[in-house]
Amino acid sequence: PNIFSDRKNSLGTNLHIAAMSQPFYEALAQWQTHQWQGASMINGKSTGQKNRDVQSPALHSDIVGQVNDSDAQQVSQAIEVAYSAFPGWKHTPVQQRAWLLLRLADSLEQNKSELIALCVREAGKTLQDSIDEVREAVDFCRYYARQSELKFCNPMVMPGPTGESNILGFSGRGVFACISPWNFPLAIFIGQIAAALAAGNTVVAKPAEQTSLIATRTFELMFEIGFPTDVVQLICGDGATVGNTLTSDPRISGVVFTGSTNTAMRINQTLAARTGSIVPFIAETGGQNAMIVDSTALPEQVVTDAVHSAFASAGQRCSALRVMYVQEDIADRVITLLKGAMAELKVGHPSHYSSDLGPVIDQAAQTKLLAHIEAITTSGQLIYQTPLAADAQQGYFVPPTAIEIEGIEQLSEEQFGPILHVVRFKAKELNKIVDSINGTGFGLTLGIHSRNEGRAQQIAQRINVGNVYINRDQIGAMVGVQPFGGQGLSGTGPKAGGPQYLLRFATEKTITNNV
Ligand code: NAD
Ligand code: ALA
Repeated sequence: PNIFSDRKNSLGTNLHIAAMSQPFYEALAQWQTHQWQGASMINGKSTGQKNRDVQSPALHSDIVGQVNDSDAQQVSQAIEVAYSAFPGWKHTPVQQRAWLLLRLADSLEQNKSELIALCVREAGKTLQDSIDEVREAVDFCRYYARQSELKFCNPMVMPGPTGESNILGFSGRGVFACISPWNFPLAIFIGQIAAALAAGNTVVAKPAEQTSLIATRTFELMFEIGFPTDVVQLICGDGATVGNTLTSDPRISGVVFTGSTNTAMRINQTLAARTGSIVPFIAETGGQNAMIVDSTALPEQVVTDAVHSAFASAGQRCSALRVMYVQEDIADRVITLLKGAMAELKVGHPSHYSSDLGPVIDQAAQTKLLAHIEAITTSGQLIYQTPLAADAQQGYFVPPTAIEIEGIEQLSEEQFGPILHVVRFKAKELNKIVDSINGTGFGLTLGIHSRNEGRAQQIAQRINVGNVYINRDQIGAMVGVQPFGGQGLSGTGPKAGGPQYLLRFATEKTITNNV
């Protein structure tokens, strides 16, 4: 019997097992110098020749491919195609829509070596992160396919007086704009699209400009496995022009966005200025995520989880740990272990098996993070900075850095990179700390390390975040296991990979019939 036959999440590749890793490396090798072409795809057709080169953030000399960015006119054409396709897709049986998503999941798995190579080279993701990226994309497709069958196949029969039937049905809203970030260039990109399509919407997708090649290749796979070309449109280009044109258009009936809080605010204003309809907006944004470590915690476990939460993916996860509060009784021990663990971190090219973290996404990100380190070390105290290799100037690398500061109030905005701030606290200050974290207005993840179960639960109840993790790391939410999403400045709340997510993409209609 196949012990994995009822598994709900996709399997990965275990790089520690030679029998698995050997064929994996061989498959990956063929994409080492490949050049991909990226462009908008309107009604299944690529819009044109390259107008910019894509350089790998890990190695300036590695040109990953070329991209053709669109203009406002092409955005309008793409919306028109998706708009015309909506009535047909809305009435396509739920099972047929779900079946296409399941086929896409299989196709992503079949093409995983290429997609992993793209994630490594275009987005600078480590091998492990890239493997996980493809798995998450596959999981989103399968999960939303199943959820759509559960939620939308049969309208709900509501109670009513004798002789009256009350039926609640769900359908797509229209054209959804799906706007995604570069840090999950496949998983979030495809997760948004899969959710919108499963709920019966047509889609115009706008990936982050930094990861247009991954998006284009994914669209090619979608058309190869049979997605109707008019149902999903791809628009490559920058946010300020292309993204703004998209969200301003009256033919767009809903927007799902993942990215920074500032961009979400801007899109919110654009949508509010539109007349003619009130447009649903799903926003999944940034965080100022903390971990609270009390004196009952195990320092070794704390450091393992904190290092992973703060520095994995070069800290470029919305869920990543930014501020670790440690009770003073164990702070010296934790800081000593932290230095030791950071000294062991390997920062290097993401295709190397030994690299724990790769580069940040681009020069602007690198400059901003280095400036923050310089500024914060004038008031805070540097704990440790992991040295970079001699060839690090060939990519956009930032050294993992830990700094002791006074409190989360010192941080005015999210620093999206490998920087961990550490704060000591006294036992009597616990409530004040929770208030301070709530006071930032962000509410994405919180880590708690404590062997006092009652205290951990009390903090978990008082904190205003979407995801609380107790005695483990606080990144890597799994689809269908830890529904993910924040509150306040961190987002409008529906949980990606959760059972209620698809409902936010659908419109509901009650038909009351006095039969
Ligand atoms: P970003 O806000 O710069 O860009 C996100 C997307 O928005 C891109 O596709 C961009 O082109 C587009 N965009 C920019 N301006 C626009 C406008 N005016 N109108 C329409 N679209 C516009 O974010 P980023 O740098 O790509 O991603 C990193 C951010 O994403 C971090 O803040 C991180 O915390 C957040 N994030 C959140 C989650 C979550 O689930 N909460 C997940 C991943 C990343
Ligand atoms: N879902 C991603 C994580 O949990 C952002 O790290």
